[in-house]
Amino acid sequence: MTNGPSASNLEVLLNSSQIGARIRELGEQISSDYRGTTPHLVGVLMGAWIFMADLIRNLSLEATVDFLGIQSCLSGTTSSGEVRITKDLDVSIAGRDVLVVEDILDTGRTYHYLEGVLSAHQPNSLKLVTLLDKTSRRAVPVTADYVGFQIPDVFVVGYGLDYNQQFRRLPEVRCLRKVTCV
Ligand code: IMP
Ligand code: MG
Repeated sequence: MTNGPSASNLEVLLNSSQIGARIRELGEQISSDYRGTTPHLVGVLMGAWIFMADLIRNLSLEATVDFLGIQSCLSGTTSSGEVRITKDLDVSIAGRDVLVVEDILDTGRTYHYLEGVLSAHQPNSLKLVTLLDKTSRRAVPVTADYVGFQIPDVFVVGYGLDYNQQFRRLPEVRCLRKVTCV
C-alpha cells in the first residue's frame, strides 16, 4: 500500500457523535416502519459493513442479514458505472422484506444495477437505506428510502468508506477535498 495523505490533514465532514445520533434516528424510523415483520438486511460490501453493524444494533426488532459483494469501478474518485459482483447472496430473498444497506449513493448506477438484480428474485418488498447521499451527482434516477446525510459533491472517506483501501477505520467521515477533490 502506498503512503497517501495522513488522516489528520483531511477535514472532518461528520463526526462520530453526529453519525451515531443519526443512526439512532434511522434505527427508530426503520423499526417503526417494519414493525410486525422481520426485515432482511443486505449490506453492500465493502463500504457498508460498519454502518450496517451500527444500524442493526439500533433496531428494536429482529432482522436477518446477508452481504452482497460489489466492486464499483472508480476512475480516479468518480464511479465509472461499471459494476462487478464479487460475492453473491447466501440466502434466498424471495418473499422477504429486503432492506439494502449502502454506504453512499453517488451517480446511483450501482444501486440501479442492484435493484434490477434483486427484484428479479421476487422479494416481498425492496427498500434502500444509505448513510450518505450525493444527490447532486445522480446520473440515473435512484432515490433512497432512508438517508443518513445529504452531502456535497466531495469524495469522502472513513466510517467504512475508503480511498484505495485507506481510511476505512476512521470513526468519522472526512473529505479528501484538499488532496484530490476539485
Ligand atoms: P454510484 O454507483 O456512483 O452510486 O457509486 C456508488 C459507489 O461508489 C459507492 O458504493 C462507493 O463504493 C463509491 N463511492 C462513490 N462516492 C464515494 C466517496 O465519496 N467515497 C468513497 N467511495 C465512494
Ligand atoms: Mg457501496
